[in-house]
Formats: sequence, structure tokens, C-alpha cells
Amino acid sequence: MRIYLDHNATAPLAPAARAAMLEAASTLGNPSSIHGDGRAARALVEDARAAVARLCGGEVDEVVFTSGGTEACALGLVGLARLARDRGRPARILIPAIDHPATLGAAEALAREGFAIAHVRVDGAGRIDLDALAADAAAGGAVIAIAAANHELGTIQDVAAIAAIARAHGWLVHLDAVQAAGKVALAPLAAAVDALAISGHKLGGPAGVGAAWLRRGLAIEPLWPGGHQERGRRPGTENLVGIAGLGAAALAADPARFVEVAARAARFEAQLVALGATIRAQAAPRIGNTVNARFAGARGDAIVMALDLAEVSASTGAACTSGSIKPSAVLLAVGEAVADARAAVRFSLGADTTDAELDRVIELLPAIVARVRRHAPT
Ligand SMILES: Cc1ncc(COP(=O)(O)O)c(C=O)c1O
Repeated sequence: MRIYLDHNATAPLAPAARAAMLEAASTLGNPSSIHGDGRAARALVEDARAAVARLCGGEVDEVVFTSGGTEACALGLVGLARLARDRGRPARILIPAIDHPATLGAAEALAREGFAIAHVRVDGAGRIDLDALAADAAAGGAVIAIAAANHELGTIQDVAAIAAIARAHGWLVHLDAVQAAGKVALAPLAAAVDALAISGHKLGGPAGVGAAWLRRGLAIEPLWPGGHQERGRRPGTENLVGIAGLGAAALAADPARFVEVAARAARFEAQLVALGATIRAQAAPRIGNTVNARFAGARGDAIVMALDLAEVSASTGAACTSGSIKPSAVLLAVGEAVADARAAVRFSLGADTTDAELDRVIELLPAIVARVRRHAPT
């Protein structure tokens, strides 16, 4: 049996999501049709919307279904930025360089529209420096974009404090909650910000579907022209099967289960340290499932490949382009040297990960690390 420790990349489909998707796959209608078949499809979409609204602590008319976390981030961030500019705010975006390409890419697109993009200072664990943020924010601007939890380090931001700084200087706030959803309570986070993004496949739903929560009263424009679906904010016939799966996953999400995961991860971290590893961001507040380890002098990609041969799925955390793995942009942005950044292995646990699975990894690692240090030094 393979051991799967790459939940931050994609998590297994929850049984309730699978069942909801099978039911939706047998539902014929287009949710926009007014006949009975259409109304049956509409009911599935609206049930899912209610579940996502509940997860976010929001109202149903604040939820917009999208094709995933990436589109939800783009819709929220681009939408807020254009709205703020139209309201006369200075065209500036503040975003940490450690954030996901989903939001950094949206910021780059805004730069092509004339927005100035500035990177918020973070410490070595990826925590936003609140004093630096307050100084940057004082000049005024459109949107401060942050991630609730970092995808590689697991580091959690102080969303309430960041949002308070933003408000004091008239900025809107976008929150990428893709990695946090299902692992921490979202409602208190949503209450502090103006828009929030989640993704199906990180919380037990399918990939290719996500949702943006957009605070009521903010007139967010759609990203492209077309029909009037999603109250005019996201044109295109709804992905009924995906939305039903996301709704069921949102309903089943239980952050309480991640308290246990955090305890399991802490025990695993202690075992890794005993093997000579350094754990990144160990002292920072983190989502409990993410363990980013460095074995000095051993390339992370080589360790990940060796673990794969031993039936263990882990990750370096960094993107793989044309077969070659670049040093992680996140680790470079928190100040690591290239050689250190190349020595990264991210283990991301799920609610069903067992101690026995983690013990097996600990058993495998000494020989793998020794071999990699000899053949693939950083
Ligand atoms: C923090 C974060 N934001 C956004 C995304 C994008 O989500 P999706 O894969 O659904 O497009 C991811 C996916 O890895 C992520 O980790």
C-alpha cells in the first residue's frame, strides 16, 4: 500500500463528495432551465452553495462557484483591485512574495493594467512583518492580498491583525484560504476580509472546482463576458458534478480532526529532527498537517524520487517545469540560499494519515538521505 503524504497538492475525495458527485452525474438538467429537470439541477447547486456559505460563515449570495482555487483567487483579487481603483483608491497591491502563483499571477496581470505591486516583508518562517506592513500600508492603496496558510511551509498569518492594518488605511483585503479551508475555522477569517478563495481538491472535494466568497455589497465584475450565471459574477454553465462534490466536502469538513493531525505531525517532526533534519517554520503558528524538512546537503527532489520508489508520495513543494525542479520560490523569498532551498522535502498529512505510515517513512529515510548526499548533493 502506498503512503500518501502530499495532501497539500491534492487530498483524497471524501466519501460524501464521491456520493454527491455520482448523484449529480445522473442529474440531467441545466440549472438555468426553468423546467423540472433544470430545477433539480439548480437545487443541487444551491444546496452546495449553502454548504460553502456555512463553511465561510457567509450568506449564500456571497458565494460564487469557479473552476478552482486559481480562478477564485483571480476573481476575488482582480475584482477587488478594479473596484478599489474605480472608487479612487491608489492603484497599489501589497502581497508577500511567498504566496501561491494563483494570487501572484493575478497580481502580475494587474501590474499589466497599471497597478504597482509591492511585496510585503516576511520573516524566515514566512510570517508577515506587521510593522513593515503598517508602514507600507500607510501610503494607501487598493488591495492587500495574503494567504491564510502557506502551501509549502504551512505558516498561518495573523489575518485579524493584518485586516485591521488594512482597514485603518482604507485597503480591501483578499484572503487565499485554499490551504486553510477544512483545517481551521474559516468564518472568523472571512469576517475580517473582503473576499476569500477556496478549492475543492484541497478539502476532500474534486479538483477543477472552487469558490470565491465575496463580501455582500461589493460589486465585483466577472473576469470574462458571457451569461448571467452566479449572479453575473461568473459566466458559464455550472459544473454540476464538481459543485455537488465541493458542497458535500464543505459540509463534511471538520477542522477538529486536524488537531489530532497536528499532534501526529509534531511526533513525526521530532523523529525527523532525531535523524538530523531541520524543520522549517517549526516555531511559527502553522496548519498542523505541513512538515517541511531540510536534510542539509541532500537534494529534496532526489529524496522525493527515492521515496517514490519506496511507495511514498511526498513533494519538494516547488513547481516542476519540463522535468526539472527549480529551487522553491517560497524558500528563496524567506531568505534561504539556493543550496538550502534545494534541500526541501514537504510532507503534508491528511486526516487519515497514521502513525504507522509515518514510522515507515522514518525507517526508510536514513539510507535514502545517506545515498542522496553521496549522489545528489545540493
Ligand atoms: C495556497 C494555494 N492557493 C491557490 C491554489 C490553487 O488552487 P487550484 O489548484 O484549485 O487551482 C493552491 C493549489 O495548490 C494553493 O495551494
